[in-house]
Amino acid sequence: MDASAEKFIQAKQLTDDPTLELPSGPWPRSAAMCIACHDQPEQKLVGPYLPFKSPSKFRAVGRSIGIDYIAEVKRRTDPKNISADKGGHRMPLGQRALDEAEQAELIHYLEN
Ligand code: HEC
Repeated sequence: MDASAEKFIQAKQLTDDPTLELPSGPWPRSAAMCIACHDQPEQKLVGPYLPFKSPSKFRAVGRSIGIDYIAEVKRRTDPKNISADKGGHRMPLGQRALDEAEQAELIHYLEN
C-alpha cells in the first residue's frame, strides 16, 4: 500500500470516529474540522501540514511558496466538487460539504 492510500484510510477512520472531539480554540467549527487533519502534528495528522490554527501564518505559508491558499480553500470547499475520499478534491475529506454559511465563515476567519 502506498503512503497516500494509507493516509486516506487513516482519514476515514478519523472521520468515522463518533468520539472525535474537534480541537477547540479561537476558531469557528468549520476551521476546527480542517485543523483536525492539517494542524495537529502531535496527533493523527492525515493531511499535509497547513497552519489553520493561525490565519496569518496560513497566509504567510502560501505567500512564501507563491500559492493563494485562500483561493485554494474556496475551490477545495466548493460543494459542487466531489469529496476527496471519493476521488475528487473537496474538503473536508470524508465529511459532508460545508454549506454556504460555513464556507463564508471559514474564509472570513482565514482572511482576518
Ligand atoms: C479527514 C482529514 C481531512 C480533513 C478533515 C480536511 N482535510 Fe484537507 N486534506 C487532507 C488530505 C489527506 C489531503 C491531501 C490529499 C488531497 O490533496 O486531496 C488534503 C489536502 C488539502 C489541501 C491541499 C494542500 C496542498 O498543499 O495542496 C487543502 C488546501 C486542504 N486540504 C484544505 C482543507 C480544508 C479547508 C479543510 C476544512 C474545511 C480540510 N482540508 C479538512 C485531509 C483532510
